[in-house]
Amino acid sequence: MVNKLLFLLLISCLFISATSNWNKSFQKWPAPIQKKTKYSSTASFELGRALFYEPLLSADSSISCSSCHLSYTAFAHVDHATSHGIQSHIGRRNAPGLFNLAWRAHFHWDGGVKSLTGQAINPLTHPDEMGNSLEEILARLQKNDTYRSAFEAVYHQEEIQTWMLLDALRQFSISLVSKESFYDKVSREHASFSEQQQKGFALFEQHCNQCHTAPLFFSNRFESNGIQIDSTDLGRFEITGSEADKGKFRVPTLRNISHSFPYMHDGRYKSLKEVMAHYGQQLQLNDNQQKDLIAFLKTLTDTTFLMNPQFQYHTLNQ
Ligand code: HEC
Ligand code: HEC
Repeated sequence: MVNKLLFLLLISCLFISATSNWNKSFQKWPAPIQKKTKYSSTASFELGRALFYEPLLSADSSISCSSCHLSYTAFAHVDHATSHGIQSHIGRRNAPGLFNLAWRAHFHWDGGVKSLTGQAINPLTHPDEMGNSLEEILARLQKNDTYRSAFEAVYHQEEIQTWMLLDALRQFSISLVSKESFYDKVSREHASFSEQQQKGFALFEQHCNQCHTAPLFFSNRFESNGIQIDSTDLGRFEITGSEADKGKFRVPTLRNISHSFPYMHDGRYKSLKEVMAHYGQQLQLNDNQQKDLIAFLKTLTDTTFLMNPQFQYHTLNQ
């Protein structure tokens, strides 16, 4: 009996030490910061998705949210360094990927937007993006039978209002969750890293994880990663006016990073090789170490997410 108890104790100690080891390298996901709203349902998701792909929302009906946020590239924009809006107006920042937004405390490269619901007002009305007015958008939607009945089904009101438009867009963007990369499979012990990926992971934990913190691979902080800053974009300083924030930007996620080029707030680097050349110089990482890190970063690609047909173009009639 005593022997049996001792044996059980030994086994449980082994188990605890194994799980604590596991936790050290593969952190559990924290609780989301942005909560679901009470309208969360399949119908509101489908309405939000249709709106996300709807060019009618822009002043000249030429572009939709998806013109700058493409599903195959993790909802980032890969054609241009900075975003292109109506009449080819050029923005000053690189469109970030859209996923795992529920875990973000603030949005945009300078964190100037705190609410995911309110965020959409910016692209809808910004002259370099969709350049429309909220009144005009609501009038267009109200005139459209399909949208009018879809809004009514979700929000139980005949007249479409701004908050409903913003809530519906949020329902779609908050549902974009990416957590099925090769890295995630390894973390669940369903796969293992190659030797090179393992080396890259070790380098990552040593040099990168303090900012790009696993398992989200971002942090809700503003940092400088040593790139040269130009005076046209001073990042977090533009929001706080504090000297200490000059040239600091939010720490972006590295999930799906091999698909969301170009890189940095202004899209200055076209490839991960160029990004690693920058960090290599900062942190004295040789060519092989840079290659190992890239091999690790590629394990953060989640093709299930990138190819998910649920997140691709649909209208309400489909
Ligand atoms: C003309 C290109 C363009 C269009 C159209 C556009 N966006 Fe964006 N989006 C951007 C850029 C650029 C940023 C980063 C802005 C910044 O940092 O100042 C951004 C940021 C965001 C963010 C914040 C992401 C984060 O992690 O901080 C969300 C959410 C978002 N867009 C959703 C939308 C939605 C919804 C629409 C349609 C209503 C839309 N966007 C239309 C270019 C665009
Ligand atoms: C001190 C915090 C910090 C550390 C350490 C750090 N980064 Fe970054 N990283 C940032 C910030 C901030 C940005 C965005 C900078 C900008 O756009 O101006 C960034 C951007 C990036 C980007 C571009 C992301 C995108 O979507 O454009 C990649 C890739 C990247 N880092 C990889 C790494 C790797 C690999 C390491 C380790 C070798 C590392 N970082 C270490 C803070 C950090």
